[in-house]
Parts: sequence; C-alpha cells; structure tokens
Amino acid sequence: MRATIALLPGDGIGPEVTAAAEQVLRAVAGRFGHAFTMTSHPVGGAALRAGGPPLPDETREACLAADAVLLGAVGDPAFDRGSSEGRPETALLQLRRALGVFANLRPARVWPGLEDGGAFKPDRVAGADLLIVRELTGGIYYGEPRGVADDGRSAFNTMRYSRPEIERIAEVAFESAAARRSRVTSVDKANVLETSRLWREVVTEVGARHPDVTLEHQYVDACALLLATSPKQFDVVLSGNLFGDILSDEAGAVVGSLGLLPSASIGGRGGLYEPVHGSAPALAGRDVANPIGAIASAAMLLRHALGAHAEADAVERAIGSALAAGLRTADLVTDGQATAVSGSAMTREIAARVGDGAPPGA
Ligand code: IPM
Ligand code: MN
Repeated sequence: MRATIALLPGDGIGPEVTAAAEQVLRAVAGRFGHAFTMTSHPVGGAALRAGGPPLPDETREACLAADAVLLGAVGDPAFDRGSSEGRPETALLQLRRALGVFANLRPARVWPGLEDGGAFKPDRVAGADLLIVRELTGGIYYGEPRGVADDGRSAFNTMRYSRPEIERIAEVAFESAAARRSRVTSVDKANVLETSRLWREVVTEVGARHPDVTLEHQYVDACALLLATSPKQFDVVLSGNLFGDILSDEAGAVVGSLGLLPSASIGGRGGLYEPVHGSAPALAGRDVANPIGAIASAAMLLRHALGAHAEADAVERAIGSALAAGLRTADLVTDGQATAVSGSAMTREIAARVGDGAPPGA
C-alpha cells in the first residue's frame, strides 16, 4: 500500500510525540511492506513563530491532499492572549472544519496493570472501556454570533445545533455502539438549554432506528460524577463539542493518564488523528512525555483512514505488550513502583514490538 500522511507536529510536546508516532508508522511500513510518504507542516504556535497565521495555506492544502493527517498538539503560552485569529488553537478549529471531520472518536480503556495508576479507586475503574463520540465541528466552538462587546466589558458565544448536525453524529454513535456493547449514553443539559432539548429529541429519533442499541440520557453534570464513580457502566458516550471536550479529559484521569488517550476525527475524507492531551509546555523537550496517545492515534489512522486493520491491531498489541512488560513513562509511575522510562525509550520498545510481531504479553 502507498499512502501520504501529513504530519503536523505543532507545539510543546507535539513534535516529540509526533516523531514517536512517525517512528512506529515506519516500523509498520517495514513489517507489512507499505510505502508511507510522511511530510511535516507548521501549525499553531510553530506557524505563528514563523511569522504566518496559525494555519498557513500551505499546511491546509497539504492536509486536504493527504490520505490522512496526524497532529501532535497546538497551544503555546507565548500566544495566550488577544483575539482568536492569533491563537494556536484556532488552527485546529479551522482544520477540523476544512477537513469536515465532524465526528471525534475518543476511546478510553483501562489497560491491564494500570488500574491503580489513576485518580480513582482501582476496583471501580478496572475493566472500564468506553468510547466518547464527540461532535467536533459545531456547537459553541463555532456558533455565531461570537465576540467581545462594550470595549471588553462583556463577551459572548453562541451554542447552536441543527437537526442534521445532531443526526449525523448520533448515527456515528449508534453504529459504533452496535460494534461494541450496544449501549449509548447521550449527554446534554436538557434541563437548562434549548440546544440540549433539541439534541435529546433528535438522538431519541435516531435511537428508534437502532432498536438493538440501548439508549439512555444523562445530564452532563451527572455524567461527570458517574464517570468518576462507576465508569464501567459506559459503552459509547455521545456528546456535543464542549461537553465531550471536558468529559474526555476526565476519562484520562479514569484510565490513569491523559497521555494514553488517542483520537480519530472522521467524517470527511481521510481524517485527522491526534492525541487527546495538549501541548504540555512544561514537559516539552525533556523526553518525559508519554508517546502512547500519539502512537495509538497512529493506530486509529491505520484503521480508519487506510483500512489497515491488521496493522492497527499490531500497533495496539505492541502498546499492550510494552505496558505488560512493566514499562512506564513518568505519568504512569505510581508511588514506589517501577522507575520511569523516557518517552523515546517507550517508543523504541513499542516500535520494536511492531517490527517483531511479538504476541500480546510478550
Ligand atoms: C482537544 C483540545 C482542543 C479542543 C483545543 C486545543 C482547541 O482541548 O482536542 O480536546 O478543545 O477541542
Ligand atoms: Mn480537550
């Protein structure tokens, strides 16, 4: 197989975790006999520092032309002020829209051996395995009007959802659930918000077309509590853009570290793949960042963008095998346990396991 993958390393730990994912993709190409053409392009703070806009035209064109896009992270404290146009995060929002990737899949599961690594009680989180399906190109992130008024004395955003936008993301959630444990929890704030009442109505209609999938509705505040206290009850969690952003960071705490979580943003051609964690400037350049979120995002890219299922499975098995061998980056070390390995050591171990085709647990 031949494929072109646009790499967008971005800011903070973005470049190091993107390089880790690239290394693993090269190991996949070697073992399975594929030819991946991978080219890097500036985005976010990295693009601003080079004097351009956060999403340069050249980067947008390269992403639109590629078979898939792998992004590290955007966010840079040097640009943490001023209007949206000059912020690194704007690049990501523009790119999601340009690519038409309205469905953000964020799987979160507790890997065996990591049960006691998170913020919550091990017996409550052991075995948790959920998929957040987050609407990604609508809601309050994009709603108009938005802006600053009264000379900075007030500011406003608009939460808006249309029926078709809700319908298509709900379809993704029900289809995903049908291939898992057939349960959808739809998250809203229907006791307060009109957008949420429409959300609930449309999700219920879509649910009626999927009689084999059980649908329940939760208010977002209750869902946040249940995710912390009984995460095992969740299979697919369907949410709008803002609520899904918040709940997915909480899911990171449930599984042990936000550094583990991958994501796939699909809906357009190819798609955009990125770890859920951000740029973590304090960790950048020290080789301590966990590369697993980015490497697992590369596995999702193989599966969703290239249809390379055996390859994706091989990467996920390699991650499981490295963890089963006791390897832990700093974020995964709990008191008195193993000493931490560097991000690059973790990457080498995972890439070697992909190359070997080592069985799970080896
Ligand atoms: C995420 C991030 C982004 C978001 C930011 C960087 C714009 O937090 O992908 O979860 O809010 O969507
Ligand atoms: Mn987020």
